[in-house]
Amino acid sequence: DSIEKGGYEHFMLKEIFEQPRSILDSMRGRLELGGSHLNMAGFRAYEQKFVNAQRIIIVACGTSWHAGLVAEYLIEDLARIPVEVEYASEFRYRNPVISERDIVIAISQSGETADTLAALELAKSKGATIFGICNVVGSSIARATDAGAYTHAGPEIGVASTKAFTAQVTVLTLLAMCIGQRRGTITDVKLRELVTELHNIPTKVEKALKLDAEIQQIAETFKDVPNFLYLGRGYNFPVALEGALKLKEISYIHAEGYPAAEMKHGPIALIDENMPVVVIATKDSSYEKVVSNIQEVKARKGRIIAVVTEGDTTIPAMAEFVIEVPPTSEVLVPLVSVIPLQLLSYHIAVLRGCNVDQPRNLAKSVTVE
Ligand code: G6P
Repeated sequence: DSIEKGGYEHFMLKEIFEQPRSILDSMRGRLELGGSHLNMAGFRAYEQKFVNAQRIIIVACGTSWHAGLVAEYLIEDLARIPVEVEYASEFRYRNPVISERDIVIAISQSGETADTLAALELAKSKGATIFGICNVVGSSIARATDAGAYTHAGPEIGVASTKAFTAQVTVLTLLAMCIGQRRGTITDVKLRELVTELHNIPTKVEKALKLDAEIQQIAETFKDVPNFLYLGRGYNFPVALEGALKLKEISYIHAEGYPAAEMKHGPIALIDENMPVVVIATKDSSYEKVVSNIQEVKARKGRIIAVVTEGDTTIPAMAEFVIEVPPTSEVLVPLVSVIPLQLLSYHIAVLRGCNVDQPRNLAKSVTVE
């Protein structure tokens, strides 16, 4: 057991630390440094269908659904195709409108989630084109799709998904770039910039992992609180949801993720001097607005833990704790900003004495509906 954990105390920690490698493995062979040549066999199989798609529907559950939400931003931004992200369990039972010009992307780490499999079977029966993004080779979802792309995260043992999420986001980024290139919605200059920056991501994730000891200290401070709020905007909104999910899953602390601007329509009522609020506030197009959201939390004495871009001089004056992550392109930010949130939930759960790798009531793969 300890050999399999490679010297780490838990599989989850090992898997968090494997991310520089698993992200690299998920893009290896699919793009070349400095160039604009992308090579995704699954995309090529459906090239024409992606070009003509009137809509992309993403079906998934849990963390994979959060990766799907990141993909909504990516695909709309880079490829200009409208995207809808659906909980597989809702989609399959609500008589959805599906046409032959729709592409349905099913995202699943295990490739065995019953609702996701049923959702894609339904879409297939209505004539949609099905694309799978799975981690487990030969899994049911991988076999039920005609084309797709594997994430190369390697086996994920911890029930709470970490490296599978960043691998999914990596593959979805490459897919959005492929579609955008083929549809002419992304310039060659922009594409090359993204290719270069994607190559830098493993190093930046490595750097974010060095925050481990610092985050453990933050976990000490908050390990006994009953509630947490996570806020983010734009590409960091799905990251807020994922951060909250990780904390719920393994520490059993109630946590909610919200789009930062939506806070005023409800969660703001919960904020007082006992409420920790994790705000993902990297330097991107919504930065100024997130800073105002932080001020709103501060005015109500909320305890702010901010994930910021290295060198930020504004937010440290407002937050109780600041976690600095390396700068990257806005569309790639989730790959870096999610890392400290994974570590935070891990350390809080360990300090609370929880069974991190096998949290109560949860299963790694849910093969019943
Ligand atoms: C379960 C797991 C989650 C996972 C979800 C979807 O709830 O505990 O970690 O995100 O299923 O699983 P999938 O294998 O389809 O990605």
